[in-house]
Amino acid sequence: MRCIAIAALVIYLLGASLDIAIADISSDYGQVKAINISHRGASGHAPEHTLHAYELGNVMKGDYIEIDLQMTKDGELIALHDETIDRTTGKKGLVKNLTLKELKKLDAGSWFNEAFPEKKSTEYMGLQIPTLREVLDRFGPDSKFFIETKSPEVYPGMEEKLINILNEYNLIGAHQTFGNVIIQSFSIESLRKVHQMDESIPLVQLLSYYAPAVITDSEVSKILEYAVGVGLHYTAVSPGYIQKVTDSGLMIFPYTVNEKDDMKMLLDWGVTGMFTNYPDRLDEVIQSRKPKNS
Ligand code: G3P
Ligand code: CA
Repeated sequence: MRCIAIAALVIYLLGASLDIAIADISSDYGQVKAINISHRGASGHAPEHTLHAYELGNVMKGDYIEIDLQMTKDGELIALHDETIDRTTGKKGLVKNLTLKELKKLDAGSWFNEAFPEKKSTEYMGLQIPTLREVLDRFGPDSKFFIETKSPEVYPGMEEKLINILNEYNLIGAHQTFGNVIIQSFSIESLRKVHQMDESIPLVQLLSYYAPAVITDSEVSKILEYAVGVGLHYTAVSPGYIQKVTDSGLMIFPYTVNEKDDMKMLLDWGVTGMFTNYPDRLDEVIQSRKPKNS
């Protein structure tokens, strides 16, 4: 059954594009290679959602850079996890009430030095919150992006802006390699909106569970109408859940997996890939599982 599901996925990917970049088809275990997603960049090593953390994610062999999007008062998309600036800048306020100019004055790196003194670096002091454009200027089109529309109900028009920017940077569209950009959200409405604007963009539905996760056939069918995968907290995942999801042809990406034992367990259970603050650890796990002399 598992082979059929993987074959279905491969056919889906082939159907979507001749170039299967989303997940190099690996001969290892006869299945799709596990996808390593740098969660907020390599955020276990450097301040999350800074160009430093994204750069480190690439150096540490992350396949994708994960970006959470918020929108400023003047309509700029920025990379930040929280709706407020409080946790990562030492100041207080809602992003939606601040202009880009105001946000650019903030220090988004020093908090990390205080929170993780053993990892502190003078390089992190004074780092700015990047705009999406700055991230794409620096890393696209040689990188892959897993972009989350955060709190889309707070930011009307966020999806249109995102699609416009991705088009402007030539990162989406029929001519593009399928899977270079994946868009994810907890909001069904946001994903459906994106799907309406451009059906060719692979979408991942994020799901919240109070563990353990259970999914019905009708929920799976609904998600299949617009998305290619699901994401959920790794502690909610079970082998049965993974089997059901992957048998339907959906991919599955648990978050946020930072310990090697959990990474190994999830790979054994057959996840498509995972979000981690430590892409270096996940890469070591993936490499250690490759058959010798490959
Ligand atoms: O996007 C997957 C995961 O990042 C969702 O959780 O809160 O870290 O954005 P969060
Ligand atoms: Ca996220």
